[in-house]
Amino acid sequence: MIALIASLAKDRVIGRDGTIPWSIPEDLHHFRDLTMGSTVIMGRRTYEDIGRPLPGRMNIVVSGKLHLTGENLITVPSLDDALAAVTTPDVFIIGGAALYREALPRADILYLTEIDAEIDGDTHFPEFDPADFRRIIGSHSDEPLPYTFVTYERIPKTQEVTPMRRFIIDTDTASDDAAALMLAALDGKAEILGVTTVVGNVSKYQSAANALATLEVCGCSAPVYMGAEKPLFHERKETISVHGADGMGDCDLIHPTGKPDESMPSYRFILEQVKKYPDEIELVVLGPVTNIAIAMLAEPDTMKHVKRIWSMGTPGLGVGNASPVAEFNVYIDAEAYAVMLNSGVPVTIIGFDLCLGDIQLDLTELDKIAHGNPAGRFLERAVSGLLRFNQTTRNSDMIDLPDAVAMACAVWPDFVVSSVNCHCTVCTEAGETYGQVIFYQKGRTYESMPKFDACAYNVTLITAVKEPVFTERFLDLLTK
Ligand code: BDR
Ligand code: CA
Repeated sequence: MIALIASLAKDRVIGRDGTIPWSIPEDLHHFRDLTMGSTVIMGRRTYEDIGRPLPGRMNIVVSGKLHLTGENLITVPSLDDALAAVTTPDVFIIGGAALYREALPRADILYLTEIDAEIDGDTHFPEFDPADFRRIIGSHSDEPLPYTFVTYERIPKTQEVTPMRRFIIDTDTASDDAAALMLAALDGKAEILGVTTVVGNVSKYQSAANALATLEVCGCSAPVYMGAEKPLFHERKETISVHGADGMGDCDLIHPTGKPDESMPSYRFILEQVKKYPDEIELVVLGPVTNIAIAMLAEPDTMKHVKRIWSMGTPGLGVGNASPVAEFNVYIDAEAYAVMLNSGVPVTIIGFDLCLGDIQLDLTELDKIAHGNPAGRFLERAVSGLLRFNQTTRNSDMIDLPDAVAMACAVWPDFVVSSVNCHCTVCTEAGETYGQVIFYQKGRTYESMPKFDACAYNVTLITAVKEPVFTERFLDLLTK
């Protein structure tokens, strides 16, 4: 994704005398949050104004004069060369005016801080046709100047009809998996070819019943398959039940009218679909990855044609929940996770760290969905076990929805703020570190690191998302 990011006053003023004629600390934080872990491309004068490479980002300076190199810094002669050198999923053009002008036709998204004040300036952001973009208004503040964070998403040209994405959702359906299924089904932008269930929070049977009931309340007729009953090489480990015994709050909610399709197990359905749609299938994996590993071990060449795996798993850059170092989905079947990481299929990981903090639903938001549409009302009851768990063990009146956050990353590309490519390994040794996942982040130097070649960056780890976007869109889906 190519983004332009800028702050502009009235008349599109972005600078005066080679510098920015205002100071808005919150805008600098916003800039940092959006660009961290990605690539920033800038012109020579912008680089000189900043005076150093921006930390935590790959810096590319477009200049025919400068020849700078260093950690996270290169100089190239043209914008084309800069874009060709980018290795991160997202790239931000950060100025100045000439580079903005040149890059604007290629931009997928503009992040503009619109300052509602007349400020003298001699450089301007280029004009663009607002009809080409969807304008999404973000937060506003009046201090120290009135400003609003606004996102402009380019509207795809109507003749370029983008084919519908094809998802298979693999899940140990408990309440946050249900939230994720709802998000995908009600958002409707990806075709759900099928839902494959696996043992995890609940048995594969309960998981299938939970998935069916959830899909039915959303009016989605995707078939449900049942998969692994236990992890690849051992029995399922004992863990506390976070979502209630039935995974859905134990409130007699689960009465699906349909039945799972028992004509084949989950892994076989996945393989059949990958053969039918090579390089198109995206697997959104919301539980232990046992089904995926079984498919990979059965037919590794077929599975090489999976387009991408979106995996809710690992603590991300935070701490574990199943153990201090391991997250539940990996902890249940770390051997399966290792199979997936070594498969060569592109994997994007959405860690548990991303579902904590303000992105959790609080009591007011739960009340909104309790008075929402049938899916919202169903979900409010389904998460009641999780709420009880959080209230009694974490002293928190909020619910974390890691699977729904993972699904949001998969379906809404503009929801993701930053990611980093990593070499990723998982500990499968029995003992306290079982299920621990190690991320060697690209661009960082570690004093001790194993030898691996450049293509061994086997994972994209999402490191930040737009929390208010999740709340707004998810609640909208459950209340309209
Ligand atoms: C994961 O474990 C389960 O409780 C959730 O459904 C999620 O997939 C979070 O660690
Ligand atoms: Ca799950």
